[in-house]
Amino acid sequence: MAWLFPELPELPELPELPELPELIPGFTLGLIFLLCEQPMPISTPPIYFDNNASTPLNPQVAQAMIDYLSDTTAFGNPSLPHWAGNGAKQALEHSRQQVADYLHCQSNEVIFTSGGTESNNHAIYGAAFHSLASAQPKKHIISSPIEHPATLEPLADLVANHGFEVSYLSVDEQGFFDAAELKQHLREDTLLVTLMHANNEFGSIQPIADIGQWCQQQQVLFHVDAVCSAGKLTIDVAKLNADLLSLSAHKFYGPKGVGALYIRHGIDAEISSFIRGAGQQQQRRSGTDNVILAVGMGEACKQLLNKDIASSQRQMMTLRNSLWQQLKHALGDGVDINGSTNDTLRLCNTLNCSFIGSQGLDLLLQLGGELAFTAGKACSGSINLLGKGSLQSAGSVRFSLGAYNTQAEVDRAATLIVNHLNNKDY
Ligand SMILES: Cc1ncc(COP(=O)(O)O)c(C=O)c1O
Repeated sequence: MAWLFPELPELPELPELPELPELIPGFTLGLIFLLCEQPMPISTPPIYFDNNASTPLNPQVAQAMIDYLSDTTAFGNPSLPHWAGNGAKQALEHSRQQVADYLHCQSNEVIFTSGGTESNNHAIYGAAFHSLASAQPKKHIISSPIEHPATLEPLADLVANHGFEVSYLSVDEQGFFDAAELKQHLREDTLLVTLMHANNEFGSIQPIADIGQWCQQQQVLFHVDAVCSAGKLTIDVAKLNADLLSLSAHKFYGPKGVGALYIRHGIDAEISSFIRGAGQQQQRRSGTDNVILAVGMGEACKQLLNKDIASSQRQMMTLRNSLWQQLKHALGDGVDINGSTNDTLRLCNTLNCSFIGSQGLDLLLQLGGELAFTAGKACSGSINLLGKGSLQSAGSVRFSLGAYNTQAEVDRAATLIVNHLNNKDY
């Protein structure tokens, strides 16, 4: 390399550098040289307030995944009973146990999936197709209109193509569905109630345990979409009275592309296999197990269990409320909150608000380089259902904070937003 940069012998680390990947010979050295020669610009790192969409990877999760990848005794196919398969199987089953510990259930009640979408599809189609194959199929499902598309789309398909009927609970202006309506909707042929634990757009926390108890009394299957609540609320499948429950690791500092479906012992015979093949995961989801992602999810669950949930809720709520107070103080009637204003009934990290007279998507396009949040359909798909006008819906944005955010970031984000809005002509 010295022929390219004769001055470089001054750098003592030189002997180690050839190990770095070099697409262009000398590029890395050149870059280091330039950085050393130029005064370093002081730049503030961008802010991430989009944790309901996805979270950054917990470094301990990353380390557990690296440790697994570096283990030369655990790379085999976990279905095969030899040393390399056994090592992989051990890692897989340890991870399944970690997820089960988080859910407070047994490990053979946990199926690894590719994420929340697959878990919801598995629960809904699994119940529906098993019912269709029975002598007297039940073809009625109860849900709500503020569910994630991962629930609404399978339901729409069951109605359009498989003769099912779906009743939807109404939702009030704070984003809560009316559990009392369950009784009105209940029919002889009601098979399943499928509802989210907490809403991903505005954070309303639903009375899931009570609904689960009612479902048990009526002998109706109960599926809980806990994708957005996991990591922010305690998830105990017995206390929630859930028969089926969906998780997705990337919502709680785990890797993307892996989730889990809890299937309670006692109802497992009522759920059809989701992917047929060589019979992995108790014949429910065939295909060679994705051990590395399972390891990441297991470690993410372990980290959640090790955390004091009450103090992490307090920390996120303090930051979230500070953001809201700063925006409200500066913008007055120009900003309005969407969803519940009751702190105990809204996810501790979620602030969905509307900047009246402004377009949420414009704000994201202007500020997105420095501040990550959600605007547009992903955060306002259900706002119209809360009885909000179109102005409020168009101006809505969702800020969702996470475990790694700081007060300094909240202050900087509030200033960025207020300055941007105040410089605009409405
Ligand atoms: C409530 C809820 N359910 C399901 C999903 C789908 O999860 P995944 O992205 O892991 O497929 C999401 C994702 O945002 C969600 O918020």
